Amino acid sequence: MLQKINIAIDGHSSCGKGTLAREMAEKLNYTFIDSGSMYRAVALFFLQNDILISDTEQVVKALKQINLDFQYSDTHSRFEICLNGLSVEKRIRQMDVAAIVSDVAALSSVRKELVRMQQDLGKNKGVVMDGRDIGTVVFPDAELKIFMTADVEIRAQRRHKELFATGSEISFEEVLDNLTSRDRIDSNREDSPLTMTDDYRLLDNSHISQKEQLQIALEWVEEIQKKNGNP
Ligand code: DC
Repeated sequence: MLQKINIAIDGHSSCGKGTLAREMAEKLNYTFIDSGSMYRAVALFFLQNDILISDTEQVVKALKQINLDFQYSDTHSRFEICLNGLSVEKRIRQMDVAAIVSDVAALSSVRKELVRMQQDLGKNKGVVMDGRDIGTVVFPDAELKIFMTADVEIRAQRRHKELFATGSEISFEEVLDNLTSRDRIDSNREDSPLTMTDDYRLLDNSHISQKEQLQIALEWVEEIQKKNGNP
């Protein structure tokens, strides 16, 4: 039997990390975990309960009231993030959450709690997790680390199209501003900034298709499996 590995996919906002991670997990029969959805669910809880991000005491107290898990949705045929038992998978993609999530994710108390949960989810291997610090902090020993990026204008166009399709009237400029600002906060924060270390393989998908990027990533997995002595 093939030995399972852990796969970390980190990179900039809205470059399709989740799509690649989900497709790889399906092909390999691994578990896909969208770590960003966990930060988004915490941000949603803070919004719903008027938690002041700058008030450490309020933040620590709020974290104790948050329970996160992934439950299978028969309607959508996928695992969805649940905040205190209720699926918030769709709600956390809205702009009010996107507007504060990077600031929430910069808080060390939040990161400590979520990293602990993520490490627990990956302890038996066979996990594809996407985020910003998966290969540097969550699974520093992940056998495959992919750093994904794409030109920021192309990412904003793709995201704008997706939001437009869901009925949002947000302008392209607003999407571009949000992405630029999230990239800046994620890469410059003090705790676990988004960084590409030497052990990552770079995947720039500005000009390649979803199918091509999946093929490249699966070839990397095969190469690693062979190196590990698997046929
Ligand atoms: O991947 P995403 O856009 O859903 O992530 C939402 C925010 O959470 C983003 O601003 C970066 C942050 N994040 C993080 O700091 N660490 C992770 N492992 C995943 C996401």
